Amino acid sequence: MSTRLLFLLSIITFISPTISTTCTSNANTGFRASLRHINANCGLPKDEIISRAVQRSSKRVKTLFSTSKIFTTSTNPVASTRILVGPSEGEYLMDLAIGTPPRPYSAMIDTGSDLIWTQCTPCVLCVDQPTPYFDPLASKTFFRHTCSSSFCQALDYPLCFSNICVYMYSYSDGANTAGVLANETFTFGISSNNVTVPNIAFGCGNLNEGSLFNGSGMVGLGRGPLSLVNQLGPSKFAYCLTYFFSPISSPLLFGSMANLNNTNVITGPVQSTPFIINTALPSLYYVSLIGITVGTALLPIPASAFALNLDGTGGVIIDSGTSISYLQMDAYNLVKQAFQTQVNLSMVSNDNFGLDICFPSPPPPFVTVKIPSITFHFDGANMTLPELNYMLYDGSTGLYCVGIGPSTDGSIIGNFQQQDMYVLYDLENGLLSFAPASCDQM
Ligand SMILES: *[C@@H]1O[C@H](CO)[C@@H](O)[C@H](O)[C@H]1NC(C)=O
Ligand SMILES: *[C@@H]1O[C@H](CO)[C@@H](O)[C@H](O)[C@H]1NC(C)=O
Ligand SMILES: *[C@@H]1O[C@H](CO)[C@@H](O)[C@H](O)[C@H]1NC(C)=O
Ligand SMILES: *[C@@H]1O[C@H](CO)[C@@H](O)[C@H](O)[C@H]1NC(C)=O
Ligand SMILES: *[C@@H]1O[C@H](CO)[C@@H](O)[C@H](O)[C@H]1NC(C)=O
Ligand SMILES: *[C@@H]1O[C@H](CO)[C@@H](O)[C@H](O)[C@H]1NC(C)=O
Repeated sequence: MSTRLLFLLSIITFISPTISTTCTSNANTGFRASLRHINANCGLPKDEIISRAVQRSSKRVKTLFSTSKIFTTSTNPVASTRILVGPSEGEYLMDLAIGTPPRPYSAMIDTGSDLIWTQCTPCVLCVDQPTPYFDPLASKTFFRHTCSSSFCQALDYPLCFSNICVYMYSYSDGANTAGVLANETFTFGISSNNVTVPNIAFGCGNLNEGSLFNGSGMVGLGRGPLSLVNQLGPSKFAYCLTYFFSPISSPLLFGSMANLNNTNVITGPVQSTPFIINTALPSLYYVSLIGITVGTALLPIPASAFALNLDGTGGVIIDSGTSISYLQMDAYNLVKQAFQTQVNLSMVSNDNFGLDICFPSPPPPFVTVKIPSITFHFDGANMTLPELNYMLYDGSTGLYCVGIGPSTDGSIIGNFQQQDMYVLYDLENGLLSFAPASCDQM
C-alpha cells in the first residue's frame, strides 16, 4: 500500500462530515429481501453465463482461502494490511436502501466476508455505479465511529486518524475500498414490505479502486461481528436460490423470517449439520464433509482430503458467492474417476467452461445415458443433488459437464449445487440446515 493512499486516507477524515443525533438500539428484526443473479436478464446465452460464472468462481476459490495471509513487506503499517477480505466479485445482488431519507441501491452479498460497505461522497476515488454515490451530508442518521468502538476493533485492520475509525480492505486482484466506519439507518425488504433498522455499522467508502462489482457495494453475510447477519437479531438468515437460469429472483430471509417451520415449499426432509470454526478464517462457514457418494459408489476419500488443518488450510465451506463447487484434489480425482467408470461415454475436458469432467452429448437418435447421482455426506446430514444441480450443458461444444472443479486448498460447496434448496444459516445454534424446496414458489 502506497504512502499516497495513506495520505488520502488521512484526508478522508477531514472532509467527511460530523453529524450526531441520538442512538437507538437494533430491535429483533425479520424481513425478506430478494436476490438477483448478476447475469440474470442480461440477454447472454446460457453457455456464456456458465463460462463467466466458472471463471469468476475459479478466481474466488484461489482468493477465499488466502485471506489469512498477511503482507509484511515494509514498516509502513498500511502495508501490513491483510491482502484480501474475500474476493471482490460475488454472484448475487440484493436491493436495500441507506440513510434518512432512504436512498435505494444494490449490493453484492458475500458469505465470505463481513463488512457492509458502499461508495460515498466525497469521492477521493470512486468506481462507476448504477445509483448515485451515498452522500452522508444528505442523511440525518449518519454517525462516525471513534477508534474505540467495538465495531472498529472488529475490523481486520482498523486505522485511526483524529480518533475517527477508518477501514481499509484490499482485495487480491488490486481492488481497494477505504473510508470511514459509520452507523446508518438501513431499509431492507421488498418495496412497501420494508423494515427500517437504525445503527447498522458500515464502511462509507471514499476511496475505491478497481472493477469491484456490478452493484454499489457489498453486504457481508459472514460469521464475524460486522456482518449484517450478526448486526441483526436473531442471528440467522436463509436463502432459497431459484434455478440458475430462472428470471425469478431468489428469496433472502433474515432473523425471525428465516426458519424452516412455516415454509410450504419444502419438498423433502430437513437436514442439519454443525458449523465448525476456523480461527484463521473466522468469517467463513465451515462444515464437516465426511464423504461423497457417486452413483452407487461411496468413494474411498481419505479423511485428510477434507480435514481442517491446524494452520487453517483445508476444510470445507459453504458459500453463496462461488458458483460451482470445488473439491480438494484427492477427492476431486476420485469423483472424476467415478464418473469415468460409471458413464458409458468417453470423458473429455471442456476449455470453454474450464471444466474437466465432461461427456459428448449422445448423437441423435439420443441414447439416454445414465448420469450417476452425487451425495455429499456431512456430519449428520446427507445432501443428494438433483441432476440439474451439477450437470451443465454447453450448447457451443455439445458437451455435458459436471459443475465441480479441483482445489489445491480447501473445498467449497457452491451456489450452483444449492439451487432449489432452502438453506438456513443459523448462527445462534451453530447449525446449517437445508431441505429441497420449490424456491420459485416462495
Ligand atoms: C417502505 O414502505 C413504505 C410503505 O409502507 C413506502 O412508502 C416506502 O417507499 C418504502 N421504502 C423503501 C425504501 O422502499
Ligand atoms: C452504532 O450503533 C451501535 C448499535 O446500536 C451502538 O452501540 C453505537 O453506539 C453506535 N455508534 C455510533 C457512533 O453511533
Ligand atoms: C455488469 O453489468 C453489465 C451491463 O449490464 C454487464 O455487461 C456485465 O457483464 C456485468 N458484469 C458482471 C460481472 O456480470
Ligand atoms: C419450529 O418448530 C419447532 C417444533 O414445533 C419448534 O420447537 C421451534 O422453536 C420452531 N422454530 C422456529 C424458528 O419457529
Ligand atoms: C455403452 O454404449 C455402447 C454404444 O455406445 C453400447 O453398445 C453398450 O451396450 C453400452 N454399455 C452399457 C453398459 O450401457
Ligand atoms: C447418510 O447416508 C449414509 C449412507 O447412505 C447413511 O448411512 C446415513 O445414515 C445417512 N445419514 C442421514 C442423516 O440420513
